[in-house]
Amino acid sequence: MRTPLIAGNWKMYKTSSEATALAEAVVRALSTPDGTQVVVCPPFTALAAVGRVVAGSRIGLGAQDLHWAKEGAYTGEVSAEMLRDIGCRYVIIGHSERRQYFGETDESVNKKSCAALASNLIPIICIGETLAEREAGRAYAVVETQIKGALSGLTPEQVQQLILAYEPVWAIGTGQTATPGQAEEMHAHIRKTIALLFGAEIAHGVRILYGGSVKPDNAKELLGRSEIDGALVGGASLQADSFAAIAKAAIR
Ligand code: PGA
Repeated sequence: MRTPLIAGNWKMYKTSSEATALAEAVVRALSTPDGTQVVVCPPFTALAAVGRVVAGSRIGLGAQDLHWAKEGAYTGEVSAEMLRDIGCRYVIIGHSERRQYFGETDESVNKKSCAALASNLIPIICIGETLAEREAGRAYAVVETQIKGALSGLTPEQVQQLILAYEPVWAIGTGQTATPGQAEEMHAHIRKTIALLFGAEIAHGVRILYGGSVKPDNAKELLGRSEIDGALVGGASLQADSFAAIAKAAIR
């Protein structure tokens, strides 16, 4: 009942013209409806151009961050309304790179998630432990704290709309993935945490993506697990053929 979703996080790659070419190739490769959802998240500067390419196709548009205020004197920032206006339907929030390099906290993730939902944007909220935290046996506790922080004050109806992405920090861009078993166990724990906070029915409906070195050759195994509802793909989303191969591995 949970529609698989594959999102490409292009990070700080692709100029507007490069992004246009990539988006055109993605649209070509994934034009046929197959029961999955596909989203691309280019950098801010390429959103408008990519939005024009994907308009009318089945590929959705997402941003990689936003500011929680409606508008204001926040130099360099972009609001939810601005993203909506340009055609975004999704926004990645709290990616570990933002937590690590730009001081993102569970509190800012919460404010951004509320702002996104208020503007009818679907947040893709990233959570995940570092290697040190996993080795210290704290992975589950860390992820639980992140969920509680991110979803604080949200209504069950709001939680039902959002998407979580479990991305163990040690697996991002390293070529090292969580085993399907490790990922599925954590996803089940995440769902249990949501059930305790918002009820079993809401938890059952929430989509939980896996992210961290998802590639065409490991996608099938990961996406075949019943607890894994899709993938957030970094490196392998920068080429249409590898991204399309991953998206096709999500077909149920
Ligand atoms: P990766 O990145 O696929 O390159 O590991 C995933 C992400 O950061 O979302």
